Amino acid sequence: MERDIEKLKKNLSKKIGKERFLHSIGVMNMCEELAICYNADVNKAKLIGLMHDMAKELSKEEKLQYVKENNIPHTSIELQAYEILHGKIAADICKKQYGFDDEMCEAIAIHTTGKENMTILEKILFIADKIDKTRKYEGVEEIRKLAFESLDKAIIKNIDATLIINIQKNNLILEESIKTRNYLLLTSEN
Ligand SMILES: [Fe+2]
Ligand SMILES: [Fe+2]
Repeated sequence: MERDIEKLKKNLSKKIGKERFLHSIGVMNMCEELAICYNADVNKAKLIGLMHDMAKELSKEEKLQYVKENNIPHTSIELQAYEILHGKIAADICKKQYGFDDEMCEAIAIHTTGKENMTILEKILFIADKIDKTRKYEGVEEIRKLAFESLDKAIIKNIDATLIINIQKNNLILEESIKTRNYLLLTSEN
């Protein structure tokens, strides 16, 4: 498995820029720490952390073409906010080219917005992506600390912060983010 990761790293470094590569390594390391903390599969967590943004630097045209050619289900809002498609595209590539299993691919597919009723692995990738050591936004340290106490609370806090920024910037808001937040507010303990 270690050899797999080294091979994937080399591969990935050719697909994305240096900054995103460092973010990917950061997410891989954060996924590892969280997987140990929450008793999840460390190898799976590391692999999805490393590869989650592998399709992010495809152009708009490449993203739209990939989705079309590979029959990837999507909504009309996802076509407008097309950057979001990088998760689903990466999941499809990781399944076809690297043999990632269904849970790993689903975690990658939904890593930006989350979804209702996430598995531990899905939650780990979601939050690791938002708190890896390359992330510098205001409040990140608090969420980073919280993630090791409660994945749910850390995710809610991150979504709250992201919603506020998206409203201020007049960005589209994906309904999956709202569903994720509502679900966690209704189900997570205290
Ligand atoms: Fe991403
Ligand atoms: Fe990311």
